[in-house]
Amino acid sequence: MHSLSEACERNKGPILRVLTETFAQSRVVLEIGSGTGQHAVHFATHLPHLTWQPSDTAEYLAGLREHLALSGPANLRAAIELDVRRQPWPLDPVDALFTANTLHIMGWSAVRDLFRGVATGLSASGTLCIYGPFRYGGRYTSPSNAEFDRFLQARDPESGIRDFASVNALASEAGLELEADHSMPANNQLLVWRRPQAAGQR
Ligand SMILES: C[S@@+](CC[C@H](N)C(=O)[O-])C[C@H]1O[C@@H](n2cnc3c(N)ncnc32)[C@H](O)[C@@H]1O
Repeated sequence: MHSLSEACERNKGPILRVLTETFAQSRVVLEIGSGTGQHAVHFATHLPHLTWQPSDTAEYLAGLREHLALSGPANLRAAIELDVRRQPWPLDPVDALFTANTLHIMGWSAVRDLFRGVATGLSASGTLCIYGPFRYGGRYTSPSNAEFDRFLQARDPESGIRDFASVNALASEAGLELEADHSMPANNQLLVWRRPQAAGQR
């Protein structure tokens, strides 16, 4: 993924508006599947209180590093290799995790691995944000998402738009509670989960 993504250019503004509030108290964000690095550069630039840790699988790492080296602000760490299927993940627990447009690309077993990694890789009171298209009760949020899902599954039968309830069940198993489900432009969602805090810590 060496060329820039037009979708990223369109969605980075709306996502930033949610993350500004959601990550207000966070310090270190691990991004999974950073792709081109456009989100990493934009969010690190506009959220300077954060340290942003981009990552991707070996396949995309060279292109990602190239892009970040050209345009990264000081609070953006060098990209690391991270495949959610290979555990434990190669970094200390973080207090925030972000991933965009990855759950419908990786197979369902990798989605399960992602939440297995979240269970140990996200610190107490940590926040998880996942952006992308989802189905609700087996229904798509738009005809274009139904079409997109057919395309994805024809290309790779393991991939496809995930059902919100199944993903939320994995989040619960990982010790997270759903805090918000933001409807975003172009029929996408930004889902936010947090680790519940003990009463004395609130
Ligand atoms: C459609 S791209 C999205 C890239 C970027 N986040 C965006 O929103 O434009 C899907 C990304 O998921 C990543 N991905 C797929 N399988 C993965 C896995 N097993 N572990 C980590 N990342 C994975 C790909 O490498 C790719 O960067």
